[in-house]
Amino acid sequence: MIRHLLVTGGCGFIGSNFVRFVLRERPRWRLTNIDDLTYSGNLANLADITDDPRYRFVKADINDRPTVDALVAECEAVVHFAAESHVDRSIQDARPFIVANVLGTQSLLDAVRGAGGRRFVHVSTDEVYGSLPLDRPELRFSEGTPLHANSPYSASKAASDLLVQSYHHTFGLDALITRCSNNFGPYQFPEKVIPLFITNLAEGHKVPLYGDGLNVRDWLHVEDHCEAILAVLEGGRAGEVYNIGGDNERNNLELTHAILDIMGLGHDMITPVADRPGHDRRYAIDASKIRHELGWTPSRSSWPRALADTVAWYLEHPHWWREIKSGEYRHYYARQYTER
Ligand code: NAD
Ligand code: TYD
Repeated sequence: MIRHLLVTGGCGFIGSNFVRFVLRERPRWRLTNIDDLTYSGNLANLADITDDPRYRFVKADINDRPTVDALVAECEAVVHFAAESHVDRSIQDARPFIVANVLGTQSLLDAVRGAGGRRFVHVSTDEVYGSLPLDRPELRFSEGTPLHANSPYSASKAASDLLVQSYHHTFGLDALITRCSNNFGPYQFPEKVIPLFITNLAEGHKVPLYGDGLNVRDWLHVEDHCEAILAVLEGGRAGEVYNIGGDNERNNLELTHAILDIMGLGHDMITPVADRPGHDRRYAIDASKIRHELGWTPSRSSWPRALADTVAWYLEHPHWWREIKSGEYRHYYARQYTER
């Protein structure tokens, strides 16, 4: 039985939504959040629950073993979100991805092992499966699809997935992996395409669309992802992988037009820019396993309603993203987009 849950990376986009979701859905649980507050970690994401007596924040790196050991010892289960998460940054510099995603996961796994075992849910991504072709719409990623990571980001996530599976196989750790498609919703760092485009447009700037704009992503609302992770934590089978997806494939041009329409702006606000190197063409998830085994289905992803709500959230919270966009992020943006 879980009384105290340890969450890593709870100050990021999905982690903060998950922390809030768990405190709401499981009122008897206590929750500790370890996060090192890297560029994408933001205390403002959880400002509304900071004073909740069931919640504790610890600022530390998941590679800090003494701290991680102490926190793991206190909990019954771990949900691991902490990671470097942006593909374009991994193309600029892969090293932080190896340190956080690979070594960081190993550090947590060793701590769990040292504590005599804990349920460990590793939050991974559909990107570990690589890319699907546009002309084979019937193809989707299942849990048995071989790993074929194409970016330094997805390679680091694939490496961490393999480590998790090896600790289950070799040491019998009660570890599970979730692989989800692209998330959207409140508190997403505005380097990812949806908040980047909404906030650029809100500031009167154009949006940089990579390549021909025909790359496809399977969009899922972050709360649906949180619900799926909780279902896996409570009901998943040790050693298993669970795919999570929204059955909601959109190409980037469609997505951009949808955002422009919601905001009442014209298609002239798109600037085509050079493609991302190695840009995966299409992701699509077969989520039938989690549906059949755990009864999970997305309940909030009625597109375009969920997209319109998301646009509204960013327009209603300009302080949240203006603060980010005026900080260190400006240097990344200049490096990423000025030469394109
Ligand atoms: P994010 O970048 O918004 O948040 C990452 C968080 O991890 C930040 O709070 C950061 O401070 C923290 N962190 C990073 N390195 C750390 C370290 N060494 N020690 C402690 N904390 C550290 O990312 P996100 O979009 O919320 O993604 C969370 C997880 O979900 C990642 O593992 C990612 O691979 C996975 N995922 C994301 C998506 C998506 O669409 N965003 C989809 C599927 C899976
Ligand atoms: P992103 O949000 O970076 O997620 P991921 O690459 O992990 O799927 O990008 C989503 C899609 O949007 C992807 O096909 C790349 C594209 N994209 C742009 O066209 N322009 C941009 O400025 C960004 C950040 C992404």
